[in-house]
Amino acid sequence: MVGMGVGPDAVTHRAGKRAKGTSLRSRPEVFPLHPDAPAPKVRPASRTECGLASEPMSYKIRPLLISDYEEVYRLWSQSEGMTLEDDDERDRIALYLKRNPGLCHVATVQGRIVGSVLCGHDGRRAVLRHLAVEKGHRKHGIGRALIAKVLAALREQGIRKCNIYVMDYNAAGLEFWRHAGARLVVYDWRTFQISVPASPASAPTLQA
Ligand SMILES: CC(C)(COP(=O)(O)OP(=O)(O)OC[C@H]1O[C@@H](n2cnc3c(N)ncnc32)[C@H](O)[C@@H]1OP(=O)(O)O)[C@@H](O)C(=O)NCCC(=O)NCCS
Repeated sequence: MVGMGVGPDAVTHRAGKRAKGTSLRSRPEVFPLHPDAPAPKVRPASRTECGLASEPMSYKIRPLLISDYEEVYRLWSQSEGMTLEDDDERDRIALYLKRNPGLCHVATVQGRIVGSVLCGHDGRRAVLRHLAVEKGHRKHGIGRALIAKVLAALREQGIRKCNIYVMDYNAAGLEFWRHAGARLVVYDWRTFQISVPASPASAPTLQA
C-alpha cells in the first residue's frame, strides 16, 4: 500500500469570511455528493474566487500522518458532537491511515493542526468521519476545503458515494451537512456491532 507523505499534496489556501450570496451549495466542486458531480479541485483560490469579504486566513491542507496523532486526538477531544471510542486509539488510527492512503487530511495554520478529516471505503461506499475544525478557526472555509480534498481523492479512487454519520444530538453538525446540500438518507434500521474475538479461544458461540 502506498504510504502518505506531505510533498506535493500540501496545498496552501487563503480563506476568510465569504461575501453574501455564495454558499457551499453553489460550489459544485464540493457538493452535492453525487456521482456525476464534476471532479473537485483543491488548489489555492484567489480572494475573488472565494468571494472573501475580510482579511484572509492562510492554512494548508496536507495528509494526516500517524505522527500527528496526539495533536489530532486533542482536536477531536475538544470537538463537540464527536464521540471517541477505543477504535480511536493510536494503533487503530495507524491501521486506518495505512488502509486509506490519500483520504485522511489535516488543515494547519502556521504548522499547527486546526482541522482534520478521516475517510475510508470498502471498494463500494465511503464513510467520512472526524471532520473537525478548531473553534477559533471555524467559518473560514477550512471544513469545506477538507471535504473537497476527500471528495477529489474518492473520485480518483472510483468511489461514488460517501456516508456521513452524525449523532442525533449534534444539531450544529446536522445543520452543517444540511447546509452543505448533503442528502439525508433515512434508513429504517438499527446498527448491531460485534467485536472480533482477540483469539480463537475467546470466540463467542453463535447459535446455528
Ligand atoms: C462542522 C465544522 C467541521 C465546520 O467547519 P468550518 O471550517 O467552520 O466550516 P466552513 O467554514 O468550511 O463552512 C462551510 C459552510 O458551512 C457553513 N457552516 C459552518 N458551520 C455550520 C453550522 N454549524 N450550521 C450551518 N452551516 C454551517 C458556513 O457558514 C459555510 O457556509 P457558506 O458556504 O454558505 O458560507 C465545525 O463546526 C466543527 O468542527 N464542528 C464540531 C465537529 C462536528 O460537528 N463535525 C461534523 C459532524 S461529522
